[in-house]
Amino acid sequence: MNFGVIGCGKMGSALVGGALRTGVLTPEKVWGYDAIAAATTEFCRTTQAKAASSLQELAGHCDTFLLATKPHQVRDVLKQLGTALGEKPALLISVAAGIPLAVMEECLPASVRVIRTMPNTPALVGKGATAYAMGSRALPEDGTAAATLFSAVGLAIATPESLLDAVTGLSGSGPAYVFVMIEALADAGVRQGLARTDAIQLAAQTLLGAASMVLETGLHPAALKDMVTSPGGTTIAGIAALEQGGLRHALHEAVSAATHRSKELSSF
Ligand SMILES: NC(=O)c1ccc[n+]([C@@H]2O[C@H](COP(=O)([O-])OP(=O)(O)OC[C@H]3O[C@@H](n4cnc5c(N)ncnc54)[C@H](O)[C@@H]3O)[C@@H](O)[C@H]2O)c1
Repeated sequence: MNFGVIGCGKMGSALVGGALRTGVLTPEKVWGYDAIAAATTEFCRTTQAKAASSLQELAGHCDTFLLATKPHQVRDVLKQLGTALGEKPALLISVAAGIPLAVMEECLPASVRVIRTMPNTPALVGKGATAYAMGSRALPEDGTAAATLFSAVGLAIATPESLLDAVTGLSGSGPAYVFVMIEALADAGVRQGLARTDAIQLAAQTLLGAASMVLETGLHPAALKDMVTSPGGTTIAGIAALEQGGLRHALHEAVSAATHRSKELSSF
C-alpha cells in the first residue's frame, strides 16, 4: 500500500506523524502533495515522505489517500483525483468536516472506496478522539485501515454517518469546552491565592488525570465520582455548587448547539 496525503497542513501532518511514530506507516510508502509547494516540501522534510508535484503524480503512485484539505476545496480536489485515477481501485479517507460520503462518492469513480472521519485537535499531540463512518463501497478491511491510522493518534471508533454531527458536537468541538473549563478552574484557583502558572498546570493535569482514570479503569464516571466524595467532605460541597451552577445542563446545551450547527453547515 502506498499512502498519499492530499493537503499537508496541520491535520495531514499530525496524522502521518503519529502513524510514522507508531510504525503504522513507513516513510518510503508515504507521498505528500499540497497545492502550496512549500507545504509539500516542509511535510516531506519532517516526515521523510516522498514529494509529489501534482495530484496526477500522487494518483499514479498511491492507492490509499488521506484527504486533508479544507472542506470547501474537497469537491474540486476529488474531481481532479477521480480523473487522475481513472478506473484504478483506491481508498480515500477524508477528514474534511461536514462533507457527506454521498457527495464524495459522487465526485469519484465507482472504483474508489470512501471513509469519512471526524477527528479532533488533540490528534496533533497524539491524544485525538476520532469517529469514522464507512462509505457505501468501503470494505471491512478499509475500516480496519482507518481504525489503525487514527489509533496512531489517539482513540478511534466506528459510527454510522448519521451520528457524525453528534460526534462533532461532543468530541470535535469538545476540546474548546475543556479549554474553557481549564481556564475557569485556573481563574478560580488564582482567586484562592494560587499563582497563575501553578493554577493552569494543576487544572489541566486534573482533567488529564480524571480522564485517564475513566479510560483506564473502565469504571462509570459516576462511580469514580462517588469514590472521592466522602460524606460531609470538601468534594461533595464543590459538587453541590456545580449542580447549583447548572454545569450538567450547560454541557448538554453545548453539545446540542454544536451538533445542530454541524447539521446546518453540512446542508450547504
Ligand atoms: N485541525 C483540526 O483539528 C481538525 C479537526 C477535525 C477535522 N479537520 C479537518 O481537517 C481538514 C484540514 O484542516 P487543517 O486544520 O489541517 O487545515 P490546514 O489549512 O492546516 O491544511 C489544509 C492544507 O490543504 C492544502 N490545500 C488546499 N487546497 C489544496 C489542493 N487543491 N490540493 C492539495 N492541497 C491543498 C493547503 O495548502 C493546506 O496546507 C479540514 O477539512 C478540517 O475540516 C481538522
